[in-house]
Amino acid sequence: TDQPTIYKGLAGVVVDKTAISKVVPETNSLTYRGYAVQELAQHCSFEQVAYLLWNGELPTDVQLADFSRRERANRRLDRTAASILAKVPETCHPMDVVRTAISFLGAEDPAAEDPSPQATQAKALRMLAVLPTIVAADMRRRRGLDPIAPHHGLGYSENFLTMVFGEVPDPVIVKAFEKSMVLYAEHSFNASTFAARVVTSTQSDMYSAVTAAIGALKGSLHGGANEAVMHDMIDIDRPERARDWLTAKLDAKEKVMGFGHRVYKNGDSRVPTMRQALQEVSAHVGEDKWMTIYAELEDEMFTRTGIKPNLDFPTGPAYFLMGFDIPAFTPVFVMSRITGWTAHIAEQAASNALIRPLSAYDGPAQRPILVR
Ligand code: CMC
Repeated sequence: TDQPTIYKGLAGVVVDKTAISKVVPETNSLTYRGYAVQELAQHCSFEQVAYLLWNGELPTDVQLADFSRRERANRRLDRTAASILAKVPETCHPMDVVRTAISFLGAEDPAAEDPSPQATQAKALRMLAVLPTIVAADMRRRRGLDPIAPHHGLGYSENFLTMVFGEVPDPVIVKAFEKSMVLYAEHSFNASTFAARVVTSTQSDMYSAVTAAIGALKGSLHGGANEAVMHDMIDIDRPERARDWLTAKLDAKEKVMGFGHRVYKNGDSRVPTMRQALQEVSAHVGEDKWMTIYAELEDEMFTRTGIKPNLDFPTGPAYFLMGFDIPAFTPVFVMSRITGWTAHIAEQAASNALIRPLSAYDGPAQRPILVR
């Protein structure tokens, strides 16, 4: 019989072109619009990278000032949205709050259905600017604390960290956080970005596409891995237990969170930069336990399986040391990836084809309904 080839998980399938980022697993490199991600993390702010992803070029000083002004002007969450979000049960995962928030912002926005490039830009900027306010308020609410209003005098990362912790953190923390935001921003046709492109391909609206992407990112095989990594490290607790823990995990044939990647088979290009940032945060906080567990697991996993960590492995403990509650890790990932998602939504809309693959049927053969 003529069975079609099935590419389960679309592994290895090239679905479309993109000018936004390039992943080259062989050379272990990731570029955004032609710039190496590790260089962007070293030299550019998250605002500059967001501008780059959306516009194709790094901003001039004047362009950056204008972008920054517009971003700062969009940080406030309106009263209705804030009161709706305050009603979402605290027992839910914070990703559910973020997903609900974007869905509600779409319902509120009179331009939600406007597909013009200008409206698309405005919506992307609005989501970028307001997401930190949403994530920070939810984190504080779960700690029994009142929200802190955005501070227009502060840059993106400083403002967010201040809204979470109530004070502007040390530059070491701000810098490490900023690096994670740059590294998380974009990664070609990953599951959440692809989900956003699928929704966009039906000519649905941008908020619907982002809502779908948030749902996809939540899972532990994707963005949820940064939370899972920290839960595992807490479970291990003492560095001398790390190797036995890993052995038990592998013997049970369980996946080790924060390791492996669909595309990179020889290490995730973003890891060295974030590993370094984790090291700096550990030194600053004066807590080397997580870094030690990190190194033990990394070493043992490589010896036993040849598999290397992905970006979620260093960001998990880095976010923990910065003081974030673990369930907020993936919402923080959303704050960054909103840039990549919206760039892809614009790109998909600009040269659209409905995404509609085929399936190979393997259910019962056609049969009549037996009428009794
Ligand atoms: N722990 C143990 N074994 C692994 C792991 C892992 N984390 N990753 C891959 N393997 C093994 C797997 O068991 C399989 O072995 P075998 O061929 O003997 O059955 C082989 O490597 C290939 O794995 P696969 O699951 O078929 O490969 P994939 O391309 O479908 O998996 C992945 C990619 C990310 C889903 C997987 O590596 C995984 O589940 N990792 C843990 C979750 C995780 O960290 N996700 C974050 C991904 S990167 C950043 C992000 O998107 O947020």
